[in-house]
Amino acid sequence: MQFKIIQPDDWHLHVRNGKALKSVISMTAKQMGRAIIMPNLNPPITNAKDACAYREEILTALPNDSTFKPLMVLYLTNNTTPKDIQEAIDNDVIAAKLYPAGATTNSDSGVTNIKNIYHTLETMQTLNMPLLIHGEVTDPKIDIFDREAVFIDQILTQIVHDFPELKIVFEHITTQNAVDFVRESSNKIAATITPQHLLNNRNDMLVGGIKPHFYCLPILKRAKHQTALITAATSANPKFFLGTDSAPHAKHDKESACGCAGVFSAPHAIELYAQAFDQAQAMDKLEAFASKFGADFYDLPRNTTTLTLEKHPWTVPDEYKFGNSVIVPFMAGKTLNWTSNTTLSPPS
Ligand code: NCD
Ligand code: ZN
Repeated sequence: MQFKIIQPDDWHLHVRNGKALKSVISMTAKQMGRAIIMPNLNPPITNAKDACAYREEILTALPNDSTFKPLMVLYLTNNTTPKDIQEAIDNDVIAAKLYPAGATTNSDSGVTNIKNIYHTLETMQTLNMPLLIHGEVTDPKIDIFDREAVFIDQILTQIVHDFPELKIVFEHITTQNAVDFVRESSNKIAATITPQHLLNNRNDMLVGGIKPHFYCLPILKRAKHQTALITAATSANPKFFLGTDSAPHAKHDKESACGCAGVFSAPHAIELYAQAFDQAQAMDKLEAFASKFGADFYDLPRNTTTLTLEKHPWTVPDEYKFGNSVIVPFMAGKTLNWTSNTTLSPPS
């Protein structure tokens, strides 16, 4: 059985830099037309100059014949100015990312109080630059499983109220609360959903032994939230679209007493989404979620190439090379039912 869709894009991706970047970028480029490249390097991408240099590094790391387009994002800090935003826009940086300080990998330079960047958000609203949000509070007193829901109540509701025309992507949502919030908000508000949050819940990570390759932030939640995410993703609502949050960390950094957060799904991202949509008997909804709604939200043209999915079970490799180390992909050793091939034929 075959399924032909417009070539997808990944609206939330981490590719790192240096040797790690060289190991992973072609995996995304072989199936995605474009990807939003998250700016949480160390040090982070906080100005237009760094974003341009990072874009060049990515383009250089791509195979020669690749047409993949990296879409660059600014990392907001307490010191980001309206001028930084203007310069970023002038250099084709398409969005800015809010990491609450301390929320996740390389977020130490993030924003400590949202009010610190209100002038900057004002400028983004005026210039129509989307704000991408890692939606978790960092208060140590708040339970890790509640951090997204509390963020909605304490911070996101306020931002949306104070900047009603600001485009916002609530990244990698993980709860029924987030689904409801996005669904009930204006059409300025959208969300990305990862494959791991569609395919798994916290039992998969914690029952029968702790499985570090399921650990990412925001953390997997209970089954009812997984169900809400599946319903949202397969609902043909243009507010919900594909963003893998593929976040590569070396095997030894994951399989550790203090393991890094991040699931590495880039090599078979679309196959993972196909698995989830197929399980929900919603393959006919996959193309819009993966290849239309994201581009539409960002006011970008849809891709003109296609990708063919074929029902052909295969086993995910145990490891890939990753710089001088190795990396364990999501679902390593497991069977996935779909394989993909990109072609340069126009969609029919
Ligand atoms: C991401 C990373 O490793 O860069 N990790 C993750 O668990 N998702 C950061 C992020 O998006 O939170
Ligand atoms: Zn991420």
